[in-house]
Amino acid sequence: MTIPDSGGGIIRMDVMEAIKKRRSIRNFKDLDVEQVKLEKMLEAGRLAPSASNRQEWRYVIVRDKQTRKKLAQAASGQTFVAQSPVVIVCCAETDEHVMSCVRNVILLTSQYQ
Ligand SMILES: Cc1cc2nc3c(=O)[nH]c(=O)nc-3n(C[C@H](O)[C@H](O)[C@H](O)COP(=O)(O)O)c2cc1C
Repeated sequence: MTIPDSGGGIIRMDVMEAIKKRRSIRNFKDLDVEQVKLEKMLEAGRLAPSASNRQEWRYVIVRDKQTRKKLAQAASGQTFVAQSPVVIVCCAETDEHVMSCVRNVILLTSQYQ
């Protein structure tokens, strides 16, 4: 499947391949993530379906080390959260609906492992 992205590029992805390839990562290299990749991940989230198309999600890109440490504490002390050089915090503006946008973001990251 080829999907045009908002930057004029093309993402090639076999959906079943992405589903099979995806896995949870809890060890990270201290390397920044290119802005173009982050933007594609956010674009994937933006295109997710939502109840009544309300799109009640907001993303915060966190690179600051101290903030990452605070996020790790907030995530029940899961220290690998602070180890990741970039954290995408997916926020729901309401707790009324399940946020399917996160699934899209996660699936696209499997392209970049
Ligand atoms: C709703 C949800 C919450 C999760 N929360 C955490 C978490 O807090 N910490 C963590 O390390 N993994 C978390 N996971 C990842 C699961 O542990 C992981 O998907 C599962 O062990 C299967 O491994 P895999 O993702 O490599 O296939 C979560 C997964 C889901 C779907």
